[in-house]
Amino acid sequence: MENDVILSVKGLSKSFGKFYALRDVSVDVKKGEITALIGPNGAGKTTFYNVITGKYRPTTGRVVFEGRDITSLPAHKVARLGLCRSFQITNIFQENTVEENILASLVAYHRKGLSLFKGLGSYRALREEAHRILEMLGLAAHAQEVAKNLAYGDKRLVEIGIALASHPKMIMLDEPTAGMTPEETERMVKMVQKLFQKTGITFLITEHDMKVVFSIAHKILVLHQGCLLAQGSPQEIRNNPRVREAYLGGSLDA
Ligand SMILES: Nc1ncnc2c1ncn2[C@@H]1O[C@H](COP(=O)(O)OP(=O)(O)O)[C@@H](O)[C@H]1O
Ligand SMILES: [Mg+2]
Repeated sequence: MENDVILSVKGLSKSFGKFYALRDVSVDVKKGEITALIGPNGAGKTTFYNVITGKYRPTTGRVVFEGRDITSLPAHKVARLGLCRSFQITNIFQENTVEENILASLVAYHRKGLSLFKGLGSYRALREEAHRILEMLGLAAHAQEVAKNLAYGDKRLVEIGIALASHPKMIMLDEPTAGMTPEETERMVKMVQKLFQKTGITFLITEHDMKVVFSIAHKILVLHQGCLLAQGSPQEIRNNPRVREAYLGGSLDA
């Protein structure tokens, strides 16, 4: 495998009974890039995430992360290797503060090393790290707020903060702007770009808003009825006749 490939998927299929949600998908994701996964509703995007991050076992195929076969590894092991899927809002501890949510994820990450930095010193170090993450997300002012009281857009940022606290090498975001106002969407897009620039973390993003996709992605993968229809630069995808057909023309002109 090439060195700059962080995630390599070969011949991946997933069936539910007789129905194939994914069929023979092979694709490489490059390290240090933002890759967008697009496709109409029901194309298999979320299933792709579920199979890669260990929520579902694939029916056929192989998933290799940083040169290591992770096919069928349970989700928590995949996460520990640094392939992190942003948690859903339902995974936020709603009754806890924003800072506590980040701390919980940091404690889980540092679990093994906690004996190294014991007691009060370790707590201080974790709080400092939590603060750095919240600063980066523009959430420092909300650190002591109870999560359930946050605006929707801020909750989704907390979700990303929880992911960042697990020290990921790659983050997979499934429709991070779904349900957002145009202002929240713009803020989220800018945030992903900023995180990418500051941390160099590899991103895989599914997104239905083509404006967002074309402004953010280095590479675009197109799923259609469970098959990989096309992959390429935003320019290549925009001009691909098969892709245009799948999207019935219009929405690609955004
Ligand atoms: N657990 C499941 N059991 C049965 N069918 C499923 C399951 N998960 C997804 N599907 C089906 O697989 C197809 C792809 O779904 P999904 O991956 O959620 O698409 P997307 O995220 O692109 O909208 C859909 O037809 C969906 O109904
Ligand atoms: Mg989906």
